[in-house]
Amino acid sequence: MVLITIEGIDGSGKSTLVRRLRARLADIDPVFTREPTAGWTGKAVRRGIAREIDPVAEALLFAADHASHLETTIRPALRRGRTVISDRYSDSRYAYQSVVLDGRLPDPLEWLKSVHAGWTIPPDRTFLLVLPVDRAMERLERGGGRREHFEQADLLERIQGAYLELAGSEPDRFVLVDAMLEKGEILDLVERTIRQTVARSR
Ligand code: TYD
Repeated sequence: MVLITIEGIDGSGKSTLVRRLRARLADIDPVFTREPTAGWTGKAVRRGIAREIDPVAEALLFAADHASHLETTIRPALRRGRTVISDRYSDSRYAYQSVVLDGRLPDPLEWLKSVHAGWTIPPDRTFLLVLPVDRAMERLERGGGRREHFEQADLLERIQGAYLELAGSEPDRFVLVDAMLEKGEILDLVERTIRQTVARSR
């Protein structure tokens, strides 16, 4: 019954890490999931991002997708005693939307936290992949394809700053991972910490 989340800016290498964790953790058989979800609320979020809708509307869509994610996937899996690993979770809102809503609301982070209060489930452990923003931009450019409107160096810089502040305020939950390390090293570190977290919960 452990909830683990993986966070980081676009281009931080989250997706590769999660893909490789699937093979490494096959014996634990975790439920792998992600936000935005693959369900209709997640599709609505992606449409909203693509159209660059109003930032408050965007934040509320992400939060609605989170509520649906908890109901359809996270709570049932935790109730069955499964370990859940989510690629992005509430901290994505607290980092991305607090930056996007800056200047629009007096205290975006406080507002975002109050929107989640009373119904979200706090993660037991959160890995934050950290890297220089120019390296993240290089990776995104190499990846090609359509860019989310968040994928600009100045925004990503502020988003990573917001992530690091969140990590600083909850040092017991967050594990900072140097995303410039060799992929195998990152995988070993994250795998080891997940195994320890799961063992401790038993
Ligand atoms: P993601 O699916 O992780 O990116 P990709 O499509 O590159 O795999 O997330 C989509 C975008 O949405 C990404 O730029 C991060 C952003 N995002 C938020 O702004 N807030 C959120 O709460 C979440 C979950 C994602």
